[in-house]
Amino acid sequence: ETGNTTLDVGFVNTASCQSAITYIDGDAGILRYRGYPIDQLAKSSSFLEVSYLLIYGELPTTAELEEFTSRIHRHTMLHEDLKDLLAAFPRDAHPMSVLSAAVSALGTFYQDSLSITDKDQVELSTMRLLAKLPTIAAYAHKKSQGQPTLYPDNRLDLVSNFLRMTFGVPAEDFEVDPIVAKALDQLFILHADHEQNCSTSTVRLVGSGHAHLFASISAGIHALSGPLHGGANSAVLEMLGHIQAGDDDVDTFMNKVKNKEDGVKLMGFGHRVYKNYDPRAAIVKDTAHEVLQKLGVNDPQLEIAMRLEEIALKDDYFVERKLYPNVDFYTGLIYKAMGFPTEMFTVLFAIGRLPGWIAQWREMMEDPATKIGRPRQLYIGEAERQFVGIDKR
Ligand code: SDX
Repeated sequence: ETGNTTLDVGFVNTASCQSAITYIDGDAGILRYRGYPIDQLAKSSSFLEVSYLLIYGELPTTAELEEFTSRIHRHTMLHEDLKDLLAAFPRDAHPMSVLSAAVSALGTFYQDSLSITDKDQVELSTMRLLAKLPTIAAYAHKKSQGQPTLYPDNRLDLVSNFLRMTFGVPAEDFEVDPIVAKALDQLFILHADHEQNCSTSTVRLVGSGHAHLFASISAGIHALSGPLHGGANSAVLEMLGHIQAGDDDVDTFMNKVKNKEDGVKLMGFGHRVYKNYDPRAAIVKDTAHEVLQKLGVNDPQLEIAMRLEEIALKDDYFVERKLYPNVDFYTGLIYKAMGFPTEMFTVLFAIGRLPGWIAQWREMMEDPATKIGRPRQLYIGEAERQFVGIDKR
């Protein structure tokens, strides 16, 4: 053995785990949660119903959904000391950093629900996360605005409660816009799970060491913040803003992408699994037109996005590489029209993805057959060599 001999370290399996939660066919552009096609759920279900479906495996009856909702309502408020912790973060802290820190801190405030085997404790940590993540997200936004926070109002549904805490102020009543609430509920459904993506695999991997649910979800939030993953929805808006500002026109920008100038990518395009149009992106594109029109928002960046898509779907560079719009391409335009600042976009992705992360973590804890494998590697380093003392180097 001389030089860099590549040592055979055994098989490299392609499936990191098995799971019964979400099915994706990347070539056909199919996505199903527990067997239900995503377009049917996006059209006819609610985010809370889909959260129940992902976690428990079945769509709830009316009674089951009411009970689930009432259990969540019991936990929407934060421990007052946790509120103080959030208040201590710098005003310009990125809300994704606040979110992951706060979720990690839940493990210190709620030590009565850290078990990974006690069913009651797993249920309690599940409810606490589903109920508190929207409150934490709203508080992070308020902190960045220098505004006072509002306590949750459990007379509202989860999404309306979140919108009121995010955009309402103590000095006046806040009417939730039903158009915004319905569209955000649908966007949360579209983000709720997606098989073994970067952040879900992170949640599983951290949980595979028997770390508790708060620790595993906090790690997943960090993974999601990356611009190639959940951070892409913000990066799309920055890209559209760059073009709108006239720094590059659409054709110049697309040539930069194709020439890989400065590593620039067409953000919101491409996918590790979908080599066809992301079924979620098709739904989001329709919702973008509908919401902007209903809200009376005329955003030139929507035209730019459609122009970029039109070019990409015909250009050999993108067609040969099977690059299509993914879920992040149009979502940012809707979030902006709703009034969210760009740095909150990935936080919205996290709120949507939370039930999927929880469902996948619970599946792994309940069924060892679905545990994630310890990743292996192909060793490409030095072959064995003998130590040489520093006086001889
Ligand atoms: C999400 O996994 C999930 O399910 C994720 C997600 C979920 O719901 O959890 O769907 C959410 O993360 C969606 C993806 C959001 N990210 C972006 O929009 C960022 C831009 N996209 C790329 O970074 C990229 O497409 C990835 C990372 C998403 C996927 O990359 P792949 O499939 O591994 O492709 P690759 O990096 O191996 O690239 C293959 C070729 C390369 O060119 P060549 O070397 O062959 O010449 O395609 C090119 C790449 O340069 N390419 C792009 C491109 N994406 C890939 N070129 C320009 N623009 C792009 N966006």
